[in-house]
Amino acid sequence: MLWWQSGVVYQIYPRSFADSNGDGVGDLQGIISRLDYLSETLGVDAIWLSPHYPSPQDDFGYDVADYVDVDPMYGDLADFDLLVKEAHARNLRVIVDYVICHSSDRHPWFIESASNRDNPKRDWYIWRPEKADGSLPNNWLSIFVGKAWTKHPTTGEYYLHSFLASQPDLNWRNPELERAMFDVLRFWLDRGVDGFRIDVARRAVKDAYLRDNPEALVIDPTTHKFDPIWSAQEHIHDDRQTDMHVIYGKFRALLDSYQERYSVGEIHEWDWDSWASWYGEGDELHMPFNFALLAAGTDAIKIRNIITGMEGAIPEGAWPNWVAGNHDEPRMATRLGGLAEARAMAVLLLTLRGTPTLYYGDEVGMTELPILIGEERDPAGLRKPGWGRDGCRSPMQWDPAGGFSSATTPWLPTNSNTATVNVESQLGDPASTLELYRALLALRRLTPALNSGGIVLEPPDKAVLAYKRVAPDGDKVSVAVNLSSGEHPQPFTGTVLVSTSPALIGEPAPKVLAPWEAVVIGN
Ligand code: NOJ
Repeated sequence: MLWWQSGVVYQIYPRSFADSNGDGVGDLQGIISRLDYLSETLGVDAIWLSPHYPSPQDDFGYDVADYVDVDPMYGDLADFDLLVKEAHARNLRVIVDYVICHSSDRHPWFIESASNRDNPKRDWYIWRPEKADGSLPNNWLSIFVGKAWTKHPTTGEYYLHSFLASQPDLNWRNPELERAMFDVLRFWLDRGVDGFRIDVARRAVKDAYLRDNPEALVIDPTTHKFDPIWSAQEHIHDDRQTDMHVIYGKFRALLDSYQERYSVGEIHEWDWDSWASWYGEGDELHMPFNFALLAAGTDAIKIRNIITGMEGAIPEGAWPNWVAGNHDEPRMATRLGGLAEARAMAVLLLTLRGTPTLYYGDEVGMTELPILIGEERDPAGLRKPGWGRDGCRSPMQWDPAGGFSSATTPWLPTNSNTATVNVESQLGDPASTLELYRALLALRRLTPALNSGGIVLEPPDKAVLAYKRVAPDGDKVSVAVNLSSGEHPQPFTGTVLVSTSPALIGEPAPKVLAPWEAVVIGN
């Protein structure tokens, strides 16, 4: 098993994790100061940093103005090198974000490209004149609401942007752009990074003829949670182009020319076969993120169907993964209805077959930060009230006072529940969520059945999701999670190794599970 298969990844949103210089925004030195916490106290195996690149921060780093540097607000390349060195000294891998679809409009590439129609970098972005009748080049839409085309004053042509107008889309059909973006990968690989999380991984290549998307015959509102106009189109020309697979073939070959490097793509696919296609034949992405749990709530039948659907589609030899929170989604302790629900989900996340990606702060049960309309920072929220993602991006809660920054006003306020929801207070308290995560992570690390074994599901039950994890040598661990607010029978025997109820640990497995109770059982 490779590290990215048996290990656990922890996502850090650099703005919000640890602020070493008191300016109210997190930074790389802050992250370095918390590496012991991550590797020893918590016990994860890799960190993924949301973008740390120079950026005007219109989309908090997902608008890159220089792919090969560090934003001064986070530090500099020397800090980055130190982070990699210190992380590796602790056996922690470092994964960085790769923003493949668009740059910032302040990237020198775009500034050149926009400067005149004959500029050698003109074709590094997607430019089109308006149509003869004065209308936009096609009917594509921005994921952040509105049209995907903006007219640039210098040349009078339109450029394409799948997100903000200040995030122009790169043209991956241009071989020079492709070369430059592959050089970016080499730059970070040579600095020792262990892998990449690829932003909007499916959308970098567009239809070569930029054809209009047809109207959707059946409107599926789940294609865009907040924009019915988006859902009314069939996104067959601005998304999922087969040429994207060709790019990932080359991408994988480059990663494979280094030792044990890893890639995970942000791929929102709800059809398991389409999802599985991004593995290629073991020659494209190491993993497309599996986001299905984010939409499943706590429905035991739905989650079981997700497991069987995914397991049925995943190619031979490919390795699964699970996500229950990230910087775009409401915090799990809020989304699922409460801490008990989130703790049950943590047991699933850390015991299902596949690599879990944890989101910073979920290990202490951080909740959504309530944000008043008018106080939002997220561009998505500013464009569509209610859609803001600030709630899940609030400062990491290290101690009863917050502990994220010495600034009186950090970039987003610290949640008011930090008095109890924090690392310092929970450490050593067996009833705490942090201790539950620590116990699960420690057990997972020591137990091949959990970190690399197969999975055998019990028959469907509408309350209790139960399965065995089985190592190649036959060693077994059983898991039963009560995803309901009532008491329900628990099918396995053995001794409880980890539980949401600390009193059960070391005891014979209970015959009945209390509401939201979960047990990991050794046989
Ligand atoms: C997906 C990222 O996760 C999100 O935060 C960002 O706004 C968009 N891509 C645009 O890059």
